[in-house]
Amino acid sequence: MAVSYKELGLVNSRELFKKAISGGYAIPAYNFNNMEQMQAIIQACVETKSPVILQVSSGARKYANQTLLRYMAQGAVEYAKELGYEIPIVLHLDHGDTFELCKSCVEYGFSSVMIDGSHHSYDDNVALTRKVVEYAHQYDVTVEGELGVLAGIEDDVQADHHTYTRPEEVEDFVSKTGVDSLAISIGTSHGANKFTPHQCTRDANGILIPPPLRFDILEAIEQRLPGFPIVLHGSSSVPQDLVKIINENGGKLKDAIGIPEEQLREAAKSAVCKINIDSDGRLAMTAAVRKVFVEKPAEFDPRKYLGPARDSLKELYKHKNIEVLGSAGKA
Ligand code: G3H
Ligand code: 13P
Ligand code: ZN
Repeated sequence: MAVSYKELGLVNSRELFKKAISGGYAIPAYNFNNMEQMQAIIQACVETKSPVILQVSSGARKYANQTLLRYMAQGAVEYAKELGYEIPIVLHLDHGDTFELCKSCVEYGFSSVMIDGSHHSYDDNVALTRKVVEYAHQYDVTVEGELGVLAGIEDDVQADHHTYTRPEEVEDFVSKTGVDSLAISIGTSHGANKFTPHQCTRDANGILIPPPLRFDILEAIEQRLPGFPIVLHGSSSVPQDLVKIINENGGKLKDAIGIPEEQLREAAKSAVCKINIDSDGRLAMTAAVRKVFVEKPAEFDPRKYLGPARDSLKELYKHKNIEVLGSAGKA
């Protein structure tokens, strides 16, 4: 049975983005697949008084079930109130790849959808994105489109190289499609291996420094679309302390390198008003679970390892809101 996100107590992203651009911060878009991740996101965002975008990929939707997700989102709204502070919560489809998926998410209470036509030709991307916008806007659901291709893996699609967003295309794309926000490619990528060591330089302490994001492209886009909401995907920083815990406790992560936090902080001050983070949450959960398994091998109550994982996630998200995105105190 179709339900409007408004009945669930959710909001779309329009007003949040306006405030984020004028305030020089970005709204966190955290992916979730299960209850513990959702609890950690809500706890962190309530404690830091931050608006939040709860983000669901098509894989996550299959994993968690569409009906459960609808009630989890409604539960998230009530849970935040119970924790003592009402924060704006968006339920967003991450990397929607078909019109039918976006339509189904609108029917199941999503307040925002992404239609990612970035792997299609420009004209096909425009046509598909426009179709989703025309449908979603009837229900006041906001739509994110994408121009340019990130290197790395998105669901089942693998791209070996970045195709940076071409600033000369953005005005035409936005005006033809009517999207509410635009995801761009300026050097971020999905997953925990964003750069190879040979793409990086080393500082005096031997720490690998990845190549900087293409802020020149971001500026050119901002000049062509003044005040228009820009989205950064692939924005995990891959904290090396978490990678170390994973590898010291039986993990095998090699050459895991992310986007330095200072660069994300700089981006958040610009028209970038939504920053997507998934992999860092995965690392925090995995590190905590691996640690319990190694330190307490006799433990078999899931609450004894998922509980610490949830606590670690919450600290990670609080840190992001306060130190990286600048969204703390903005709800
Ligand atoms: O952009 C990709 C997100 O990290 C979601 O990943 O498709 O494995 O749920 P997933
Ligand atoms: P990360 O893999 O860098 O966390 O990016 C997540 C993302 O962009 C989800 O859409
Ligand atoms: Zn993404």
